Amino acid sequence: MTTWDEAFADRYDEWAYLTADIPFYVGLARDADGPLVELAIGNGRVAIPVARATGRPVIGLDTSPSMLAQAGERAAEAGVTLELSQSDMRELALETPAALVYCPARALMHLPTWADRRRTFERVASALRPGGRFAWNVFAFDHQLATHLDGSRQDHPVPHTIHYAVGDNRVDLVVAAGDATSSLWWGTRNEWLGLIDVAGLELEALYGGFAGEPFTEDSREYVFVTRRPAH
Ligand SMILES: C[S@@+](CC[C@H](N)C(=O)[O-])C[C@H]1O[C@@H](n2cnc3c(N)ncnc32)[C@H](O)[C@@H]1O
Repeated sequence: MTTWDEAFADRYDEWAYLTADIPFYVGLARDADGPLVELAIGNGRVAIPVARATGRPVIGLDTSPSMLAQAGERAAEAGVTLELSQSDMRELALETPAALVYCPARALMHLPTWADRRRTFERVASALRPGGRFAWNVFAFDHQLATHLDGSRQDHPVPHTIHYAVGDNRVDLVVAAGDATSSLWWGTRNEWLGLIDVAGLELEALYGGFAGEPFTEDSREYVFVTRRPAH
């Protein structure tokens, strides 16, 4: 089982057609007075608009060489600077503390266990300046959607099959007869709040969407903004 198959990288543009999150993360970056860091930067889908809007470089890390290569090429075309490194978010370490660390597109869900996530949150907390922010979005498990999608074949954006493994709180997206799999492990609201707590971060906001909608029992996306305490 792989959490992110390199084979996804070639066609990431086709998966990454959502844009609603970009103004949200750009807004946080504009507010941040200091280094900007994206965990799991992928092909720079969000980081390039962030760098363009702020006029500042974005430090980006990712485990996938192909995604990093795409990010580098796209940044050069866009005329912005991304400081890219091939590394795992569980090993985050910065030379200069960040004003903003962010993780779009549910990428934290590629971490399979509580221990992986706790380690990542602790690394982020210690990489932030006092008062610096950590923001991310992840989906909320929807049992009706899972019932509808489990075992189904989807044609868009590329042909794939969806398999739920509820006992492992995992959903697998399997492309092209099993030669590429991307797995996501969902968490409950209390698990995310627990990670914030153990890492010594403070919850600033939990939205139900990128327009700042309040999070309600019917929300299906967690959009978290947290910060390292100022003192
Ligand atoms: C859904 S893409 C998100 C890319 C980008 N953040 C965006 O918003 O378009 C997920 C990315 O997470 C990366 N990834 C998965 N596990 C990782 C890990 N443990 N550390 C760093 N990157 C990871 C993958 O290589 C992939 O580029």
